[in-house]
Amino acid sequence: MSTQTDTRNKITIRRLREMKQTNEKIACLTAYDASFAQLLEKAAVDVVLVGDSLGMVIQGEETTLPVSVEDMLYHTQCVAKGLQNALLITDMPFLSFTSEEEAVLNAGLFMKQGGAQMVKLEGGIDQADTVSALNKNGIPVCAHLGLQPQYVHKIGGYRVQGRDAAQADKMQDDALALQQAGADLMLLECVPESLAARITRALDIPVIGIGASAECDGQILVLYDILDISLGIRPKFSKDFMRSSSSIQHAIEGYVQAVKQGTFPAAEHVFN
Ligand code: KIV
Repeated sequence: MSTQTDTRNKITIRRLREMKQTNEKIACLTAYDASFAQLLEKAAVDVVLVGDSLGMVIQGEETTLPVSVEDMLYHTQCVAKGLQNALLITDMPFLSFTSEEEAVLNAGLFMKQGGAQMVKLEGGIDQADTVSALNKNGIPVCAHLGLQPQYVHKIGGYRVQGRDAAQADKMQDDALALQQAGADLMLLECVPESLAARITRALDIPVIGIGASAECDGQILVLYDILDISLGIRPKFSKDFMRSSSSIQHAIEGYVQAVKQGTFPAAEHVFN
């Protein structure tokens, strides 16, 4: 059973909101197993995401589409064992939330059997009812806008989103609708800096960016990208923190410090 002392340092939704209000940057990373999770915990990463990026970095797939609910549950259970205080989020994989019932059942599995404290799902206003159903059932949600890798075949590749005015306005409307539906956190992927700034200001909930500039309330990257061990080419918005580090632990701490101090992302990691 947790004591008052254990829970005091736990990262909660309330704490993340407080960090937004006090301009304290939120440092997030992905993890897929207990050993790396404990390194993230030691580095005081605030939020750990079991991303469906595991399809690409763990399973060697070309996209995140083949990842199953079972895969996500297994890796969530592994990561949960390495964490104490970081908030644990699990991605809802492709086609695991095609109805509100399915979303609640699968998200419920990640929380009840996996130890997740929040789920993340891709999609705009079309997912507002699903977010609301999860919210009604006590399941915290991180919405995901901008580049949504589960839509890769629909959008024809991995590209920056929200560059034209109509797309940008739609993204801001989607963000407000998802917040209204009960989302507790917003992730923006590959979004121009000015739009990321606009959405971050418009929302009360914290906004975490990946390729969305330092204007967001926090940052997330794929762990294997910062260690430079991902398959293929590291994205422009990411940074190899291993290059200037003597160990993996040191590289993760370097990332956390750079996010907290606002030195990452720098101009070369940002889209305009
Ligand atoms: O799956 C993942 O790792 C993600 C990233 C955008 C953080 O969703």
